[in-house]
Amino acid sequence: MPDFLRAALPLLHLLEPETAHRLTVGALSLGLAPRDRAADDACLATRLFDMYLPNPIGLAAGFDKDAEVPDRMLALGFGFVEVGSVTPRPQSGNPRPRIFRLARDRAVINRLGFNNHGLVAAAERLRRRTGTGVVGANLGANRDSEDPVADYVSGIAAMHGLVDYFTVNVSSPNTPGLRDLQAGDRLRRLLTAVLAARDRHGRNAPRVTPVFVKIAPDVGEAEIAEISEVALDVGVDGAIVGNTTVGLRDGLHDSRRDEQGGLSGAPLFDLSTDVLAKLYRASAGRLPLIGVGGVDSGAAAYRKIRAGATLVQLYTALIYQGPGLVRRIKRELAARVRADGYASVTDAVGADAGPARGR
Ligand SMILES: Cc1cc2nc3c(=O)[nH]c(=O)nc-3n(C[C@H](O)[C@H](O)[C@H](O)COP(=O)(O)O)c2cc1C
Repeated sequence: MPDFLRAALPLLHLLEPETAHRLTVGALSLGLAPRDRAADDACLATRLFDMYLPNPIGLAAGFDKDAEVPDRMLALGFGFVEVGSVTPRPQSGNPRPRIFRLARDRAVINRLGFNNHGLVAAAERLRRRTGTGVVGANLGANRDSEDPVADYVSGIAAMHGLVDYFTVNVSSPNTPGLRDLQAGDRLRRLLTAVLAARDRHGRNAPRVTPVFVKIAPDVGEAEIAEISEVALDVGVDGAIVGNTTVGLRDGLHDSRRDEQGGLSGAPLFDLSTDVLAKLYRASAGRLPLIGVGGVDSGAAAYRKIRAGATLVQLYTALIYQGPGLVRRIKRELAARVRADGYASVTDAVGADAGPARGR
């Protein structure tokens, strides 16, 4: 039943979203999902540091929080997969219901609050992996942590050698105080400690594991400038723009629009792409960026890339369009890259960014 997930999509949408998600992950574990067996168009091949990706389209954090199915998601055609967010200790998150589909808006609001099995369980699963595709670990802090910096450092210690990159998530809106870590001095201290831990644990490793910082789309010009300055100064390897938004409710049509939590999906596209472009310009293209937020087509992925993203991620569109989406996006993206006369998708990075372009 290779197309079980595609056929089941309308039925999954009749179920409570979290139940549907559990069933989906269960089906994926059993191999009941289509595989993308076709080789990716050569123009999509992307290298970022020592990561060689067949295409720049990745699965965003939150789908596979506990690293249960990274290789199944790679087989679906993603160029890379980010697992997590993982916190040091397991935690159950906020009371259910805590995920809401806003079908009229092609959006989701979630207030999960980092429900996950903890670092030990995720590390154990990653240790048992047999696949070789690129997997990153998105690290978070426990809700009741007294020392969030130590939580991220524990994440590096537990996951080092098991993943190809790390993401320091300081932007989930559902853990009180977490986003305060984005502010200048606190961000500097946090990233300095994380990079030191990465270097300590990687002393004998054959290559350096890149560290990205994932920011919220709810940041103004001044914060973008500050984040760029700190990131370049401490030497973090790149940034992910961005997480879900606590804003944008006024433009929504679905009756669930006032649920508390972070909004993802189509309505987030313009805001997150704007912040991405601003960070690209603020850093003069010197900080590799991963663009995420509302990507649901090849055209949308291409806009993120032209705005300054070297890589792209998505999650919510998968809920509405099912697993065939990944292949569709890759086909459309390759066609657009070639139509614009680029030999490689990487040549289009930042093409719309204006004068600050150039590394
Ligand atoms: C149900 C759900 C859970 C999420 N959990 C996480 C998470 O644990 N860590 C994280 O960094 N982002 C998390 N995200 C945010 C996504 O990674 C992504 O940044 C955001 O949804 C915007 O992309 P999209 O519009 O393609 O979904 C979650 C999103 C959703 C919808």
